[in-house]
Amino acid sequence: MPHWTFEDIPAQTGRVAVVTGANTGIGFEAARALARKGADVTLACRNVDKAQAAVERILRETPEATVSQAALDLSDLRKVEAFAARFAEQHTRLDLLILNAGVMVPPESKTAQGFELQFGVNHLGHFALTGALLPLVRASEGARVVVVSSTAARFGAMDFDDLQFEKRGYKPWPAYGQSKLANQLFTLELQRRLAASGSSVLVTAAHPGWTATDLQRSSGVARFFNPLLAMKPAQGALPTLRAATDPTARGGDYFGPSGFLQMRGYPRRVPMVKSAHDRSAAARLWEISEALSGVRYEC
Ligand SMILES: NC(=O)c1ccc[n+]([C@@H]2O[C@H](COP(=O)([O-])OP(=O)(O)OC[C@H]3O[C@@H](n4cnc5c(N)ncnc54)[C@H](OP(=O)(O)O)[C@@H]3O)[C@@H](O)[C@H]2O)c1
Repeated sequence: MPHWTFEDIPAQTGRVAVVTGANTGIGFEAARALARKGADVTLACRNVDKAQAAVERILRETPEATVSQAALDLSDLRKVEAFAARFAEQHTRLDLLILNAGVMVPPESKTAQGFELQFGVNHLGHFALTGALLPLVRASEGARVVVVSSTAARFGAMDFDDLQFEKRGYKPWPAYGQSKLANQLFTLELQRRLAASGSSVLVTAAHPGWTATDLQRSSGVARFFNPLLAMKPAQGALPTLRAATDPTARGGDYFGPSGFLQMRGYPRRVPMVKSAHDRSAAARLWEISEALSGVRYEC
């Protein structure tokens, strides 16, 4: 079977896309590719200067692109709400919502509302964002929500009695794994809820294997092995782009690199971890996420 590449992305003209954390890394490459294919792309980023530099980089390469940036800090639920309100004022549709932003193994830190940072940004901020933007997504024929997870979900476990690592003490890698398993549980639960409410919106997921980006800023070991093992961001973005645009994708599909241990290669369908299919854990995470974020979904 031939490799799935940038050339396989269908024309995106007329489609409106939001990519979180799009100023750098995989998010930037995904935004750049979608803009080159004709989508109207908003780079939703916490640092406005970095975001503007990314917009200008895309426009230098593709002057006819429709691309802009807007401030979104997923570590503050009030700022998530403000982003969604502003976006909804300016748009009547949202065809592609790509939940890409992420942090990995930072020193112990909390979101503005006091949640462990990786749970707060990687899962809860995106949960709140999606809930707030869902009316626009549902209003768009053929819309998709794409969740960026990780192979780290393999060692992830949901500890519902201590989601914030307060009782057991902060452990960076288990906290990252938990947040990335939460991404997969959320993907499947959102897809089930949308389907049950009669919506045709697809929820898909992807992971970029091992890709050299700023994500490894807090891990010396990962940075050390980057030159040997990691892919470049443009290739690392392909699973996300396939999850977002492959016309044959189905709800709940998960795409990752095809090579050894899914670290490198071209995107193909890959299985989610077994615990992502635990429906009672997904329902519990959903209820907790609604309570913690204060965002109630329409489905
Ligand atoms: N690289 C890999 O090997 C790998 C493997 C598995 C999964 N992933 C996943 O892929 C996704 C993209 O990661 P990447 O490798 O491209 O990393 P990256 O280059 O560090 O990009 C992460 C993006 O998220 C943004 N971000 C961080 N905290 C945020 C916040 N509070 N609010 C809004 N945006 C925030 C960052 O903004 P700043 O630039 O301002 O920090 C950056 O734009 C993540 O979900 C990550 O978990 C990556």
